[in-house]
Amino acid sequence: MFQRVEKTRKYLREYLAQSPYFAKNPGQFSYRYQHSLRVAAIGARIARADGLDEEALTLGCLLHDISYGREFVTQEDWLNHGRESARIARPWLLDLGLAPAKVEEICYGIAIHVDDEADFAGEKTVLAGLIGDCDNIDRFDVYRVYELLEVNGFSQKETGEQLAWLEAVLPPVRQYRELAMSSPAATAMWRDRLDFQVNFYERLYRQLSGPSEEWPDERQEKQSEEQPEKD
Ligand SMILES: [Fe+2]
Ligand SMILES: [Fe+2]
Repeated sequence: MFQRVEKTRKYLREYLAQSPYFAKNPGQFSYRYQHSLRVAAIGARIARADGLDEEALTLGCLLHDISYGREFVTQEDWLNHGRESARIARPWLLDLGLAPAKVEEICYGIAIHVDDEADFAGEKTVLAGLIGDCDNIDRFDVYRVYELLEVNGFSQKETGEQLAWLEAVLPPVRQYRELAMSSPAATAMWRDRLDFQVNFYERLYRQLSGPSEEWPDERQEKQSEEQPEKD
């Protein structure tokens, strides 16, 4: 198993390195490559916990974003990147010697991971559904919190704007937390990621809402007000 996974990791690295966009943006290259490795590690862990085909899920997760090796020009190109990744992955997986039915199951999962749509017939089995789930488990981890704050210029906002922004962000995050993934271990990992986000944003909101304790000076003033006046 390890040999085919390791061969695929090298293939992915070389394929992504061809991208003219990544050549100009090395930070983006390393994010995409490391994201693919993290998604594969999540897939392996879930497959072991839930008794699924670890090699198949790891391979599918490794290859789910391989089409990033070709530059996306339009938004539609990006929307099609799951289906495009499946086209690239299929001959590679067949060459590795995997059973054709297994290759189709993996490719179906890769194809649907962006918008739940494939351009060929297939079934969303537990394994196929898990490829997109593992992707989301990584996408909704702590880096996303940092990235969202940075992209939205959070630190440049006034406190009132920051609070309004957090009030808008929290409800969807709380809703996402309730989504069920395709297997029990995936749902547990998903909840762990989303619980962190909810907790972080709630604490940030409380911190920015003002001091939770009274000012020492105010306490002293109150005490002195309460003391009966001496003659
Ligand atoms: Fe993707
Ligand atoms: Fe991804």
